Amino acid sequence: MSEFIEDKAGYRVAVVGATGAVGQTMLEILAERKFPVSEVIAVASSRSAGTTVSFNGKDLIVEDLDSFDPSGVDIALFSAGGGTSKTHAPRFADAGCYVIDNSSAWRMEPEIALVVPEVNPEDLQMAKNNRIIANPNCSTIQMVVALKPLHDAVAIKRLVISTYQAVSGAGAKAIEELALQSRQLLSGAAATVEVLPARIAFNVVPHIDVFLEDGYTKEERKMMEETRKILDNGIAVTATTVRVPVFYGHSESVNVTFEDDMNAARARELLSAFEGVCVVDDPAGEDYPMPSDAGGTDPVWVGRIRDDHSCPNTINLWIVADNIRKGAALNAVQIAELLIGKTAVAH
Ligand code: A2P
Repeated sequence: MSEFIEDKAGYRVAVVGATGAVGQTMLEILAERKFPVSEVIAVASSRSAGTTVSFNGKDLIVEDLDSFDPSGVDIALFSAGGGTSKTHAPRFADAGCYVIDNSSAWRMEPEIALVVPEVNPEDLQMAKNNRIIANPNCSTIQMVVALKPLHDAVAIKRLVISTYQAVSGAGAKAIEELALQSRQLLSGAAATVEVLPARIAFNVVPHIDVFLEDGYTKEERKMMEETRKILDNGIAVTATTVRVPVFYGHSESVNVTFEDDMNAARARELLSAFEGVCVVDDPAGEDYPMPSDAGGTDPVWVGRIRDDHSCPNTINLWIVADNIRKGAALNAVQIAELLIGKTAVAH
C-alpha cells in the first residue's frame, strides 16, 4: 500500500534522458527488477526524438521532452542534466507526476528530499509537498550506504575522502573519449581532448565539475554538502575527487573518525550485517573490492578495513560500487519502489 501514489497494477513511467548512459541503465533496471509498469515512455532531446531505445526486448520510440505532455505519468526518472531538470521537473510535478531527478539541480534545496533508500527513506515524506525527489551524487550514494551502519552504532565525527571516479560518471561521450584516446595513444597519435577537462587515458585528473572560489571543485562540494544532508549535519567532511581511466565503477578511500569507541573489527562486523553492503576484505588472500569486479553489480563493496594507528577511534575504508547502477539508476529505481510501497533493497 503506497502513501504517495494510488495503488495500481501497473504505473506509467517516463525515463527522461533515455538515450544517455544513466537513462539506458534505468530502463534495464526497471525491467530487471520487474517494476510494475503499464507503459514506459522514453524521452530525450529533439536531437534523438523519433529514434528508438530498447526496454524489455521491445523498441520504444523516443519522444521530444520540449513537446511531451506529462499528464497521466505517475513517475518520471530524470537524467538529462541540471538545466533540463530545472526547466522541466516542475512542469511534470505540477501535472501530478513524482519526479526522481539524477542531476544536482534540486539536491541542496532545503525542502527537497535527497534520498538513499538504505540510509534515509524517511526523508521521502518531504516529497508529498512538492513531488520532486533528488537522487544524490554517485560518489556520495555509495559512501553513505557504507557509513550508515557505522554512524548508527557510534556517531561519526569527521570524514577525509579521496575518490577514484570512472569516466561513465561524465556520460556516454566521456566513455567514448577514454576508448578513443587509448586507441590514439597506443597507435602513436595525439589524444583528442573534448569532453573531459584533460587527457584521461593513461592519466589521473584531480578535476571533476567546475572549480569554485575556495579552490574546491563542485564535485567535492557536492560530496561534502550532500553527505551532511543525508547522514548528519554534525559531521565534518573534506574531499578530493579524482577522475581515473576506468570505464565503470567508482572507488573511494575514506578515513572515518568516530566520537567514541570504534575499531576495524567492530566496523567489519557492522558492515557485514548491513543489507546493501558486501564486505570483501581478506589481506591474506589478497582479496579486496575493485571496479573490474563491481561493474554491473548492485551492492556497495567494502574492503581494506583498517585501524588508523595515527588517530584514536579512526578507521580506513575502501568503498567501490557501480556508479551508473547504485550511484545513479538503481538508486533512482529503488526510490520509485519506495513511492509505490515496495521495500527497496539492492540485491
Ligand atoms: P539526447 O541523446 O537527445 O541528447 P549522457 O549523460 O550519457 O550524456 O546523457 C544525457 C541524456 O540527457 C541524453 O539522453 C540526452 O538526450 C538527454 N538530454 C540532454 N539535454 C537534453 C535536453 N535539453 N532535453 C531533453 N533531453 C536532454
